[in-house]
Amino acid sequence: MFSFKCIFILFDIAFSHIFNPLSGLFMKIRRRETATTSTQIRFVTTSEAEMPSDFSARPGESAIRYDRDRTFIYCGIGDAASCTLSILCSSAAVAAQSILKLKRSEFSVNFPRTGFDCVENPHSALLEGFLLGFYQFSKYKSEKPNTPALIELISTKLSPKEIRKIEAVSESVFYARDLVNENASVVTPSYLADEACKLTKNKRFTATIISGATLRKKKLNLIATVGQGAPVPPALIIMEYHGKKNSSAQTALVGKGVTFDSGGQNLKTTGNIETMRHDMAGAAAVLGVMKTCSILNPPINLIGVIPAVHNALGSNSFFPGDVYTAYSGKTVEIWSTDAEGRLILADAIAYCVDRYAPSEIIDLATLTGGIKSALGTLVAGLFSNNDHIAEKLFDAGEKTGERLWRFPLYQEYTASIKGDIGDLRNLSKFKKGYASSIVGAAFLQEFTDSVPWGHIDIAGTAFNEGGAGGIVPQFATGFGVRLLHSYLGIH
Ligand code: BES
Ligand code: ZN
Ligand code: ZN
Repeated sequence: MFSFKCIFILFDIAFSHIFNPLSGLFMKIRRRETATTSTQIRFVTTSEAEMPSDFSARPGESAIRYDRDRTFIYCGIGDAASCTLSILCSSAAVAAQSILKLKRSEFSVNFPRTGFDCVENPHSALLEGFLLGFYQFSKYKSEKPNTPALIELISTKLSPKEIRKIEAVSESVFYARDLVNENASVVTPSYLADEACKLTKNKRFTATIISGATLRKKKLNLIATVGQGAPVPPALIIMEYHGKKNSSAQTALVGKGVTFDSGGQNLKTTGNIETMRHDMAGAAAVLGVMKTCSILNPPINLIGVIPAVHNALGSNSFFPGDVYTAYSGKTVEIWSTDAEGRLILADAIAYCVDRYAPSEIIDLATLTGGIKSALGTLVAGLFSNNDHIAEKLFDAGEKTGERLWRFPLYQEYTASIKGDIGDLRNLSKFKKGYASSIVGAAFLQEFTDSVPWGHIDIAGTAFNEGGAGGIVPQFATGFGVRLLHSYLGIH
């Protein structure tokens, strides 16, 4: 075990910038009263659209007009009276896509002058949707996309501080997406640990990595057990961010970090295994939030906890039918080595409660395929032992468009995971597949020691195998990053 404490590095304050190394995106952002570039985006409401025209400013609609040496891209945002946050975000993402297609290196964005009663901060939604729309994972493309170097924001109501916040959040969403999209052979548990250690350049951060043989010494047996079949060692990664002095309140964010889930001895089948590098999307979201903290230094205290393993099939893999002892002392019967997320999270949650006494715990995990059947890819599952946390998380979902829907945790579900030779079983006694998401959550609840807790099952929302739409790209979505920023009130 080792820990880092480093000196904070200042960033360039003359310009804002959004930079993402893997996506190769580096855009400077500046505010202006009038446009100085030859390519201009105009967000237009239905009432502002000039008639007669083939452009009626419906949400997502866009039109390009040329006037001598200038290009105007008109982006519809619909009726100002019935506008929603997701309409603004999606329309702005369409504008970003147009800029990418035109391969412009700089451009100006004109914000609408019309007021919007139904959206709290329309300019903020537009800028966020716009920046998020630029995401591309191009590391493995021979032909790199042309991304713009400069954005001018014209007549924006956003202050430099607000712009900086939106940039930081977008940067963190990109970062989380990149971590998920990158190869499982690259993003290993030690890669995630290195990312956590990089945060300690900010003096408000500390990182603690427990890995290899130390895991068993510290009784983190379930993490060690799930990770024992892999060529790369497992780790428990703990990041502490202290942004608020004289306050003992601190939220713990726990993210499932299975860097590849083969299923282990209960091997996944073709058709189910190919996307399993995204089984660390919860960890990526937690790292994303931590990254924003390292940029914005918000006045909060936060712990980020990531149990990181490769759930591999090998001669040393753990066995179905065996009983293993968790950090909490409870014993667990293994009924499927593919239900590994709950095992590593059980140790991470119990360790966090025991060592850090957080005031609340929020975990994000690609925990069950069942949540996809229940909610599809649009909404994540919410489970909680605390109505206040559940409501606050639900509201953050509505606000950000990263929506959640709560499921019950009746005591019968907990009864269904009672073990016969051990204390608990990692699958229920229900018919195969029945209520699998709730059962997974009920298992985690057994390790919370009644600390206020919320569990978000992002197995359906973290990875979009369909086509891109609005701010949601193909593959890694970064789901959870914006949700948690809103929940934590990070500005
Ligand atoms: N990582 C998977 C869940 C998953 C499935 C995530 C599809 C993303 C997309 C998890 O570890 C798993 O395999 N869960 C099993 C649990 C079952 C054995 C109770 C599942 O959901 O099938
Ligand atoms: Zn699994
Ligand atoms: Zn998994």
